[in-house]
Amino acid sequence: MENKKIIIGNQKMYMSIGEVSEFLKGITGKNLGSNIVICPSSIYIPYFLKHRYCVGIQNISFDDKRQYTGEISAKQASDTGIKYALVGHSERRLYFNEDNELINKKVIALLQNNIIPILCIGETIEEKNLLKTNRVLKNDIVSCLKNISSDDLEKIIIAYEPIWAIGTNRIPTMSEIKSNVNYIKDLINKIFKKDVRVVYGGSVNSNNINKLNKIDNLDGFLIGGSSTKSEEFLKIIEVVVNQ
Ligand code: PGA
Repeated sequence: MENKKIIIGNQKMYMSIGEVSEFLKGITGKNLGSNIVICPSSIYIPYFLKHRYCVGIQNISFDDKRQYTGEISAKQASDTGIKYALVGHSERRLYFNEDNELINKKVIALLQNNIIPILCIGETIEEKNLLKTNRVLKNDIVSCLKNISSDDLEKIIIAYEPIWAIGTNRIPTMSEIKSNVNYIKDLINKIFKKDVRVVYGGSVNSNNINKLNKIDNLDGFLIGGSSTKSEEFLKIIEVVVNQ
């Protein structure tokens, strides 16, 4: 398992072609290694390939062999040079009705094609207020990782993303993050007898990264909005890599 913290940028559907070009200009010549993963809109992926950083895809189809207009298979992604994929993001659960059963199929398809799944899990504000966070995390872990072997488990990254923290500029307290990440790691260790990497996502930016980066059980960060401007993204990377 790699020791370096991993920094994943989820650029969602935010950027125009002009903004992508600006972004690429901004990161050209910077020393971004394989612990940096950029997930652009799929249509822009070819512009990001063949650099030292890695490229991730924001979504894949659960099945390789069907007639699915508009979908991208894990095999196609892998053949293109994509190393990581987001799966189970709350926006896909909410707007595209993705449930844990489908997410489990996607995790399996990714592993079969040597792509590292970044499995996103997290609670809503209502669930948090009802003290159901652990129950939600456990249910997501057990269902999304059904039929995954211990060996494959080591390849997976879990992104703990409280849904209420995504795109809101609100983040949990540092001790809440630490204890929820501990809960995830302990549970996975109990089930699979293996360690898993866990990153935090939800309103990470250059103002809060200093304190977030001090949480000692985190293996990195998943960054949405703040990964779309090269200057902001580089500032975050600088803190995580050098602190
Ligand atoms: P945010 O998004 O950083 O804009 O809150 C995180 C995510 O959706 O992965």
